[in-house]
Amino acid sequence: MRITVESGDITRSPAKAIIVNLFQGVTHPGGATGAVDAALDGGISALIADGEIKGKRGEATLIYSLGKVASPRVIVAGLGKQEEFSLNVIRDLMGTALRRARAAKATTVATILHGAGIAGLDAASCAQAIAEGAVMGAYRFRKYKDGSIIAEEADEIEALTIIETDGRKLEAARRGVARGEVLAQAACHTRDMANEPGNALPPSALAERAKALAKDAGIDCEVLDDKQITKLGMGALMGVGVGSASPPRFIIMRYRGDPSNKKTIGLLGKGITFDSGGISIKPAAGMESMKGDMSGAAAVISATWAIAKLKAKINVTCLVPTAENMPSGSATRPGDVLRAMNGKTIEVINTDAEGRLILADAICYARQENLSPIIDVATLTGAMMIALGPAATGFFATDDTLAADLLAAGAASGEKMWRFPLIDDYKEGLRSNVADIKNTGPRNGGAINAAEFLRFFAEDSQWAHIDMAGTDEAEKDKGLWVKGSTGIPTRTLINFVLGRAKR
Ligand code: BES
Ligand code: MN
Ligand code: ZN
Repeated sequence: MRITVESGDITRSPAKAIIVNLFQGVTHPGGATGAVDAALDGGISALIADGEIKGKRGEATLIYSLGKVASPRVIVAGLGKQEEFSLNVIRDLMGTALRRARAAKATTVATILHGAGIAGLDAASCAQAIAEGAVMGAYRFRKYKDGSIIAEEADEIEALTIIETDGRKLEAARRGVARGEVLAQAACHTRDMANEPGNALPPSALAERAKALAKDAGIDCEVLDDKQITKLGMGALMGVGVGSASPPRFIIMRYRGDPSNKKTIGLLGKGITFDSGGISIKPAAGMESMKGDMSGAAAVISATWAIAKLKAKINVTCLVPTAENMPSGSATRPGDVLRAMNGKTIEVINTDAEGRLILADAICYARQENLSPIIDVATLTGAMMIALGPAATGFFATDDTLAADLLAAGAASGEKMWRFPLIDDYKEGLRSNVADIKNTGPRNGGAINAAEFLRFFAEDSQWAHIDMAGTDEAEKDKGLWVKGSTGIPTRTLINFVLGRAKR
């Protein structure tokens, strides 16, 4: 999709569909929507009077214009209640409206600068939200669809034109579009990796994706193979990977946007390319969703790509331990003891608690490289999914500033974050009879027990742990989300890092 910004009058746009908006409760729209309404001889107001158009969030009504405006279709998209308006309303509106346009075979679309009119938000932010919502909402993973059992619309939206009457806003809007495109593309890179089936994306293939993105952004990417991983002493990562025919990898991406600064942020992601549970095998129902157990890895790789693309003045090192968790004659058994890179021994009680094992080695590596803060991202526990459900991502942080910055970055991205507590008392539950620590604690407080396991390896580092098990997949199309991988928390990570970069 090509996104451009033009000055002009939306009633004259030749696009196959134009998108205008409406706040809930408005009976006679003003601004651009009012101009379209007038050209349609009050057709929009009439549908509002009938109660068909209400302006509710998520509403997208298609009206055929029959030659009264240049475009054959007008989509009236609901903005919801004025007092609840935010940039996220714009993102969702664009996603919903573009899928509606695509279903109507409107492959070229024009829209107004939502939010910059009556809501009075700055043009750059509005344009950024439009681009993010458009790119993310129109996303589809069609790689393996050649002729589906149920026919699907194959056409894609080729062009989106943002039309603004006030010429002074154009430059800011163009800047916003450029930034929004990078953020959305990053989220879509995450989705592309997470939606990819396990057979097509073993650890070596995930490493190739990271290399390709690093090359595109002009940054360094090093991939360690199983021999090098063993040599480094990463026994926990190896222990998870030994049951698979596809050996582990350790991916290192380095971006130096502020070379004179000694500080470097560490972004770490869980890269389990498929989680069968291993010898502690999972039940069959829903196991296919475990192809997405590398979503954390995909998010940190894509975020690093975007940070480099945006030339942020800051340093980031991205670390991804990646392995496939499989049962086999060579797999790690419950009761086995593994030794992590820092020399600590781990008794494996349950081979399905594998994410924390591979992250333990990544955290040791991050500490050795003096990365700070260290932020790990993982589809780590079913307990987090049960605790928060699909609307918020839980995280833990060792200090309040780091937590506040993550909360703010999540809010700005429309990816709600919720802080969980680290609880010293729960260390006792991780005590092992034979090793320094065991990999599972009691069932109750499962997400916190997992975080405490990781904290044992993070030691005194400034550290945060994001458990995105409940938010990595969307059940249905809604706003900028499409069924399948959400791409969370890619944009949160980018905005967090941008927030700490030099201006
Ligand atoms: N990848 C899973 C967690 C998960 C569950 C992610 C559902 C997304 C959706 C993780 O490796 C796992 O299996 N965790 C276990 C840990 C338990 C054995 C202590 C869990 O949460 O059941
Ligand atoms: Mn598991
Ligand atoms: Zn897992």
